[in-house]
Amino acid sequence: MFSKKLKNAPEGYTFDDFLLVPAASSVEPKDVVTKSRVSRNLELNIPIISSAMDTVTEAEMAIALAQEGGMGVIHRNMNIKEQVDEVKKVKRSSDLTIRDVITISPDSSVLESIQIMDEEDVSGLPVVKKGKIVGIISRRDIIPLLNSKDKLMVREIMTEEVVTISESTTPEEALDIAYENKVERLPVVDGDNIVGIVTIRDIIERKKYPYASRDSNGRFLVGAAAGPFDLERAMALDDAGVDVIAVDCAHAHNLNVVQFVGELKDNIEADLIVGNIATKKAAEDLLAREVDGLKVGIGGGSICTTRIIAGVGVPQLTAISKAADAAQDYEIPVIGDGGLRYSGDVAKAIAVGADCVMLGNLLAGTHEAPGEVVIMNGRKFKQYRGMGSLGAMTGGIGAGTDRYFQEVKGPMKHAKLVPEGVEGVTPFKGYASEVLFQLIGGLKASMGYCGAQNINAMQNDTTLVRITSSGITESHPHDMLITNESPNYPTTRLM
Ligand code: XMP
Repeated sequence: MFSKKLKNAPEGYTFDDFLLVPAASSVEPKDVVTKSRVSRNLELNIPIISSAMDTVTEAEMAIALAQEGGMGVIHRNMNIKEQVDEVKKVKRSSDLTIRDVITISPDSSVLESIQIMDEEDVSGLPVVKKGKIVGIISRRDIIPLLNSKDKLMVREIMTEEVVTISESTTPEEALDIAYENKVERLPVVDGDNIVGIVTIRDIIERKKYPYASRDSNGRFLVGAAAGPFDLERAMALDDAGVDVIAVDCAHAHNLNVVQFVGELKDNIEADLIVGNIATKKAAEDLLAREVDGLKVGIGGGSICTTRIIAGVGVPQLTAISKAADAAQDYEIPVIGDGGLRYSGDVAKAIAVGADCVMLGNLLAGTHEAPGEVVIMNGRKFKQYRGMGSLGAMTGGIGAGTDRYFQEVKGPMKHAKLVPEGVEGVTPFKGYASEVLFQLIGGLKASMGYCGAQNINAMQNDTTLVRITSSGITESHPHDMLITNESPNYPTTRLM
């Protein structure tokens, strides 16, 4: 009987076990479309999101990802307010309309206005009386008057005819209005009441990122993690305007988690991604709860020890393909999370059914990842650790012990925890945009080889070949010494 378990065990495969087969192609890599969905209602321009890990994603990384067309998922190793603030930072950084406008009264002195401009580092102030805009004053108007002996009041020198826009003015229209009227800042009004201000500098800055992932108000998309039973956190993130909540759990096929997810879904507006899972049955049980996205991957991450400590997991390509088999009928996106080492792995994940991938290691060590650069033996590194490592589980207020269903009784430092991850460093990699450029460049090259014009074709019209260990040896550079490190093939891999 028992021996049948071994006899009947299926094979499980991962990235290095397969290659994509080149096909007749009339597709140029530069012409492919990398748009994909990350959840039921959200589309990204590149199929990449960053891991909800405390050495990978806070606001800075989420902004960098959104600028390039992906999305960051803010980790939860912090209290609810701190995490909500990170979400708001991402949203605010991309909000064209500055909402907390600094204004001045017409009865203030000109001297006072210049002090406020200096303190707040702005070049002009709307003049407001009882909430209504009555003028505008700029540094340029004031400077010639500063030596005047008269104590001038704002109302005496302000420009009374203010060029304003409304909430519905598009960035392009705002730019035209600003150029026509030769002004740098446009107050946004609702009737006579000022509700915000838009600057030309911000509109031009926005044009630098034509592929950015934005919500319907033009603000960056952002996701955030919540624990498997943390309704309070999920609802606070939802209120803060997060676009996606990722229920972050090492085993989302735990039936209490499945049940919680159903309840959570009724309490939030944001899309709900749930993970991690590694089987078709897990996908089916969660899809029955109407989740908006599935996150797949158990134990394949570069910092994970689950497969060693618990002896549990499914090699990543098999896991993705099984979940995708189930998700296909529901048209719900699948995210391949963990274990990716090269751009070719992104292509392979998509070819077996992933709509997006989640990256930890490949984005850890970039400028935007939390933490400082450390120098060891003359080389730069940044910390990278598993969220199930001892350091991460004991290190933060929202520390994810519930991710691993571990209870902490008494003070955290005395907690008896069984880690499922390790702590270490990864080489410093420069800016996240440079890493993303290489990853997407590799994906586009792959799509060109396969003749796949878009992600849907990459998923449905490609074939794979199973390779052996000698095939892997042949795939990597061999029988030579690399002298110039390539940006997409680092030779400083640590293991
Ligand atoms: P990569 O390979 O990109 O994987 O570094 C990142 C993913 O790994 C998961 N993760 C963990 N899994 N123990 C685990 O078993 C851990 O301590 C741990 N920390 C992160 C997570 O899904 C992440 O996105």
